Amino acid sequence: MRDISNIAPSTPKKQKLHSTLITPTKQITSGLLSPASTPTKTSITDSNKGVARLFTAPSTPTKSTSKPSIYTQAKALFQRGSADYTSPLVSREVEALCLNRFLLDNITNHTSNSLYISGPPGTGKTAQINVSFKALSSGQNIKINGATAKVIQINCMTLNAPEHIFHEIYSQVVGTLSISYRKRKTFDDLVQLLNNKELELNSVVVVLDEMDCLITRDQQILFELFRIATPTSDTNTKLVLIGISNALDLTDKFLPRLKRNGLNPQALQFLPYTFEQIKAVIIGKLRSLIPDEDKENCADDIPIFHPSAIQLCCKKSASITGDLRKAFDMVYKSIEVVEENTKKKNKDISSLTWLDCPKVLIPHVAKICSSSFGQKSLSSLNLLQKAVLCCLFTHQGQDINVNTLYDFYIKQPDIEKLLGNLKKGEFLEIISALESTSVVTLGEKKLLKCNVFNVDIGNKIIRPNVPFDDVIKSIGDVGILKRIVGK
Ligand SMILES: Nc1ncnc2c1ncn2[C@@H]1O[C@H](COP(=O)(O)OP(=O)(O)OP(=O)(O)O)[C@@H](O)[C@H]1O
Ligand SMILES: [Mg+2]
Repeated sequence: MRDISNIAPSTPKKQKLHSTLITPTKQITSGLLSPASTPTKTSITDSNKGVARLFTAPSTPTKSTSKPSIYTQAKALFQRGSADYTSPLVSREVEALCLNRFLLDNITNHTSNSLYISGPPGTGKTAQINVSFKALSSGQNIKINGATAKVIQINCMTLNAPEHIFHEIYSQVVGTLSISYRKRKTFDDLVQLLNNKELELNSVVVVLDEMDCLITRDQQILFELFRIATPTSDTNTKLVLIGISNALDLTDKFLPRLKRNGLNPQALQFLPYTFEQIKAVIIGKLRSLIPDEDKENCADDIPIFHPSAIQLCCKKSASITGDLRKAFDMVYKSIEVVEENTKKKNKDISSLTWLDCPKVLIPHVAKICSSSFGQKSLSSLNLLQKAVLCCLFTHQGQDINVNTLYDFYIKQPDIEKLLGNLKKGEFLEIISALESTSVVTLGEKKLLKCNVFNVDIGNKIIRPNVPFDDVIKSIGDVGILKRIVGK
């Protein structure tokens, strides 16, 4: 049984919990970019801290001597917010290479530049940024070949108004939290600051996560930021700008506009995770539960899950969106089901190990899928709702908003003939009903905050939240629906 002291934050020991994950195909040559791949003194992962937190909960001091069960440890690996940024991300080797090279080149060459990272939710954009910075920087600063850069990460959702971004960057560069908002810093102030020789920084690396929240009607704010982050910019301290967004709107409309204005940010796309990639990530995480000394002898073993249950889990999540968050949720809930079942059999789960604990099997995953992925709710949908859903599936993999879906829907000749004319208001009601049963998801929370583009439901991005296979099953022999999805 694993000793809890291995994962208690106060007693970090040498371990290689994630050594099996470290398989980048290509490595950047600079030694500065390799610490994540050579975890010489690993440290506690965030997820382990999660376990430790559960273990050392102050409100239950009497339990402080008991160990977290193997199920608790496993769930902690897949809990939202428990991420390990000390190891390279599985299946993101190429993206890591591009990002690290961009950072390295611009910091060492002392150039301003910009990079636009796009991709659907849960594809590792933010996680990869965190992993790269963890490898490059100590604290907030990066030092490479004598060049000094300060790293500033801003989640644009947290700003009350897009124009506050200049003040936010300014105050983080000077490191003074007490700058009065009455004298809010402007774009000109920021440029002046970057030209101030006393700053003694070669570069400032600014990451704008959820960058779509900075969109204004004329896109002026993003234009100004990208303008000072061009290689020809002559500010004394260089601005290395990384914008992250999952709104395709931005890629379609904003990037071409930047280009028309002579601004050419580099672009890096994160594609949805495939079935194989999701599987590799999940297996890597589960195998971190095997004590180091046993790993070699158990090269093919997977704790907690039966291999076929993992297959099902990954197939389901890959077929929906390739969003790793959804896959992690499914794994977490499946473990919870087995944990509860085991407890009901009066087993002392604290004494179980990864070798002898009851495992997650296909029926456990199926149970979770049917409840969280709406199989039940699919059978209760009416014909109109199913028709809308089928139209949505013809756009799979694209980010479309509700208005575009409506335009597509009313142009289907078959639908109009057989199901009648659907007014926009009625269509929106159907969308709301589909959302309330979790059959579709609407928009991103961040899009809701953007005051210009996403004020109403029609502008929200709509995505299916059920597997295509289940939809096909639910439409049965209804010809009109089969024709929409091309079956
Ligand atoms: N390759 C990977 N290996 C392990 N965990 C990963 C990997 N990619 C992503 N994750 C985890 O999946 C979750 C979602 O990833 P992340 O937050 O980076 O997505 P995102 O692309 O930024 O999504 P959004 O557009 O919604 O912000 C996080 O918990 C992250 O740690
Ligand atoms: Mg993100």
